[in-house]
Amino acid sequence: MKSMKFVHLTDTHMNAPSSEGPFAKFQLAEKVKQTFRHLRDANVAPDFVLITGDLSHEGDAADYAYIRTVLDECSALIGAPVHVVLGNHDHRSAFRQGYLGEAPSEEAYYYSLDFNGLRLIGLNSQVPGRHDGELDAAQLAWLKNELATPAPRGTIIGIHHPMMSVRGMPGDHLLANRAQLGDAIEGTDVIGVMAGHVHSNNVGTYRGIVNVAAAGTAFTGELADAENYKMVDFCGFNIVDVTEEGLSIQTTVLPTSGEEYFRFPISLLVAQH
Ligand SMILES: [Fe+2]
Ligand SMILES: [Fe+2]
Repeated sequence: MKSMKFVHLTDTHMNAPSSEGPFAKFQLAEKVKQTFRHLRDANVAPDFVLITGDLSHEGDAADYAYIRTVLDECSALIGAPVHVVLGNHDHRSAFRQGYLGEAPSEEAYYYSLDFNGLRLIGLNSQVPGRHDGELDAAQLAWLKNELATPAPRGTIIGIHHPMMSVRGMPGDHLLANRAQLGDAIEGTDVIGVMAGHVHSNNVGTYRGIVNVAAAGTAFTGELADAENYKMVDFCGFNIVDVTEEGLSIQTTVLPTSGEEYFRFPISLLVAQH
């Protein structure tokens, strides 16, 4: 059976050029374009690209319309579809209006897709007005029903909030009802859970299932000293090969300035990313 591969991007935090948001001046969409040019030049040729949320930084419909234009161009550049999920900095209604071209609605955005037998399930862990994530009961019921029928090559889940613990991150950065998601995927054909949110690259397991929280294309974060946290220019992504033997996850980091974007007391970490 032919192996497959996909590219996992996350936390693009894009805004339209006209936006006045705090990250707009850093032109983070340019880093997404840079990433796709790299994918083209390096002949990565993924079957699809998955972006696990925080597509925009508190974007409105105009931001999401701009993001759709950027990602459509990026998709055409490499000849592969781009699929997204929502993060805590995304807004459902503006996303549905600007990105999907639908009537504005707070309806959760989740889906199941087939790529030659590899199933991609995108989940909506973003909850309006909250920083942490949670899957609602209707979505969990839908997921269990979907997973009742195995896919020939297994299932990849895309979700913004990580399930596994991440070093240095308080538990309120994770998926609040990760145990319920664990119950839903344990013993099924799920081979990997791809997440973001924490802006650093983490690979681990949850109940034996591979979990990844990728660093993203926008910025990374680390302690500046004992009392302060800093956000630094960064751009990285993961290439995930899916073979009959399992998953292989390769991290690529593209050159950036390393410029410090923001610095703030650790106590504000919850509010800032
Ligand atoms: Fe983020
Ligand atoms: Fe996030």
